[in-house]
Amino acid sequence: MRRPMVAGNWKMYGTRTSVAELIGGLNQQALPAGVDVAVFPVSVHLQQVLDGLAENNIAVGSQNCAFQSEQGALTGEVSPVQLADLGCQFVLVGHSERRSVFGESDRDVCNKFAAVQASGLIPVLCVGETLEQRNAGETLSVVSAQLDAVVGELGVGVFAKAVIAYEPVWAIGTGLTATPQQAQEVHAEIRAQIASKDSVLAESVRILYGGSVKAANAADLFGMPDIDGGLVGGASLNADEFGAICRAAGS
Ligand code: PGA
Repeated sequence: MRRPMVAGNWKMYGTRTSVAELIGGLNQQALPAGVDVAVFPVSVHLQQVLDGLAENNIAVGSQNCAFQSEQGALTGEVSPVQLADLGCQFVLVGHSERRSVFGESDRDVCNKFAAVQASGLIPVLCVGETLEQRNAGETLSVVSAQLDAVVGELGVGVFAKAVIAYEPVWAIGTGLTATPQQAQEVHAEIRAQIASKDSVLAESVRILYGGSVKAANAADLFGMPDIDGGLVGGASLNADEFGAICRAAGS
């Protein structure tokens, strides 16, 4: 039985004041005991969020990190070792905004994935197709290639300590959500791809759905057999909404 997970990607939002309010709101949520909950603030707010949620059962992760685990002369970067030292547990790798806006290639994503694990943290590998690719019937091949960029280089075993997030690019921040059936089709394919190399591991790896998840659609999405929770952007900036999504994952 896979333990559901709900992750909140705060993207580049928040000030110390609004983050304090969000922490306060999160601390008031009744969160289901059977769900892993994590939030991913802007890096300059990580310490504030770690301190603010210390009494709570909410893990904290980073939205990005350097491609190597060791410290070094990489101006402007943050090493995953430094994130681990701070108390983070997760790092998002390969979010579509990193891929499209910052030009991160599959190789960059794979390097970050490896660096995160080398630092003892858990990567959340994001994969997903654009609208153009979906319309061209390329969804499964695009997602499969993104996954294979990591499996081919590092081996399937790395997914014993990783989470996958399927996020169709056309559904991110657009209000357009994949239907539960559309998402399930891709999730099942991702799991089958892992099962082709390790069937036991495939049953335990968590695959989250992301793309305009909100309280109103979460239960239907999380009810699908291969959807193990969500990676939530916009709706995670509202503590009540995020709390409701977490409860949907627990029911
Ligand atoms: P969204 O973002 O929930 O606002 O669509 C999801 C994400 O980017 O992870």
